Amino acid sequence: MTKTINIAIDGPSGSGKSTLAKGLAAALGYIYIDTGALYRAIGLFAARHGVSAETPEDVVPLLPLMDLQMRLENGGNAVYLDGVRLGEEIRTSSASHYASQVSKVPEVRAFLLETQRNIARTNNVIMDGRDIGTVILPDAQVKLYMEASPQQRAKRRLLELLAKGEQITEEQVLADILRRDANDSGRDIAPAKPAEDAVFLDNSLLTPAETVEAALAIIREKLETVTL
Ligand code: DC
Repeated sequence: MTKTINIAIDGPSGSGKSTLAKGLAAALGYIYIDTGALYRAIGLFAARHGVSAETPEDVVPLLPLMDLQMRLENGGNAVYLDGVRLGEEIRTSSASHYASQVSKVPEVRAFLLETQRNIARTNNVIMDGRDIGTVILPDAQVKLYMEASPQQRAKRRLLELLAKGEQITEEQVLADILRRDANDSGRDIAPAKPAEDAVFLDNSLLTPAETVEAALAIIREKLETVTL
């Protein structure tokens, strides 16, 4: 079987991973896999079952009851909970906090591991997350690590949340981002960090189109030097 091409994109919240991943998937004709959506779905499931975000390990005994599905639709991964496609309800600030909290639980990470690997085994993917280059796809042919200043990330996130009608200030968004950074990179299991062979891409001063161009240049160079 021909080996698939896997491109891993990691980086902190609001660093532009999903915008870049979507742009790359469209440019290369690969499938975009948003792994954060899986953690967000588990966070929502936990909230719906009365689990407090402060005791995320309480979701573990409920995981066998969870009907979570990932389906490939429109070049990306749609996530279904109890047969219903998840949308904006997993994108609120509260959903972000729940996702970050449940993602610290080892059983939650183990629960999602094979789903992520299987999809990459059978498809050319651009997969974004926190541990894609380090844990999920350590053999990915290209690994990018996105960076942008916390202030820049907070500004982008604020615009998204305001557009969705959330009442929130830039200070609150920045505080949330810093809390999530600490949570995601300070956890014991699969902490958010760059793989040793990741290429850093700081997009603080780049437009989305310029970021895609910069990433494509890195990808072309890498794919020339790897054996496929
Ligand atoms: O990428 P995102 O903001 O949608 O992710 C939501 C949370 O899920 C994030 O705070 C950390 C967690 N996450 C993770 O631990 N590992 C991943 N591969 C993706 C997300």
